[in-house]
Amino acid sequence: MPSDNPLAQPVLTFSDAERSPLSIRAKALVFVDPRSQALYQEVERLAPGGQPLLIRGETGTGKELLARHIHRASGRPGLFVALNCASLSPQHAEAELFGHVPGVHNGSASSRAGWFGSAHGGTLYLDEIGDLPLKLQGQLLRALETREVLRVGAREANPVDVRLVAATSFDLSRAAAVGKFDQRLIDYLADGSLELPPLRQRPGDILPLAGYFLGVHAQRLGLPAPTLGLAAQQVLERHAWPGNTRELESVIHFALLVSDGEIAPQHLELQAG
Ligand SMILES: Nc1ncnc2c1ncn2[C@@H]1O[C@H](COP(=O)(O)OP(=O)(O)O)[C@@H](O)[C@H]1O
Ligand SMILES: [Mg+2]
Repeated sequence: MPSDNPLAQPVLTFSDAERSPLSIRAKALVFVDPRSQALYQEVERLAPGGQPLLIRGETGTGKELLARHIHRASGRPGLFVALNCASLSPQHAEAELFGHVPGVHNGSASSRAGWFGSAHGGTLYLDEIGDLPLKLQGQLLRALETREVLRVGAREANPVDVRLVAATSFDLSRAAAVGKFDQRLIDYLADGSLELPPLRQRPGDILPLAGYFLGVHAQRLGLPAPTLGLAAQQVLERHAWPGNTRELESVIHFALLVSDGEIAPQHLELQAG
């Protein structure tokens, strides 16, 4: 339950995060606002199964962090593999996603599993799935449904068990309506839909997140954590957060570096919007 002190510790903390020191931020999920808590109940219900999920939300709202949490909570033994569909190279997207046999890709002498195969037994997180080329959408669906993946140049498919967690910042149905997205993929994801509201619609998360990021970054930098002055708290609570939680994190990070003892409004570099 949220405590009376908005700067108290996050309500949910996970200690089994990845070992990399860079992933320190991936350890806790701060969900204090009633809307976030309602979402969390939905997450708890959907995480354990292997069913495909779609997370909808503006950029910076925490979709990837949530997907990582879902993977951990699922108990699936395989890896969490995160891929931004917008970053796939157009010419090599199929080989990058599904792998290839020797000789067919860049003259490579070795074979490669591809991102899909690397997620075997685990979770494949596809960020901005709306940016996946249409042809690959069909192949992806086929691989998920048949539980088999065909590497580029291969004659035989390999069995594969992947849970798809997809994310999007825009409405996929509208893309499907104009033929830019495969409706069958929307149907495949339809039973597991999670909406992560923008930060401005869950104001109860703002100060707990600010306190959390202050603690995390002060510790990482070996600095004493400054207090967040009352005036600064009010500024944070009134801001519209066009960049969502990612913006809040960088605002706090910056304020930590330029303030001394107490964070005041002049230490807050907010994004216009
Ligand atoms: N509820 C949350 N609790 C703690 N940290 C969060 C939360 N939501 C987002 N973050 C942090 O904010 C940053 C942006 O989140 P991210 O998952 O990358 O957003 P998205 O994938 O929606 O663009 C990351 O550093 C993430 O760890
Ligand atoms: Mg992201």
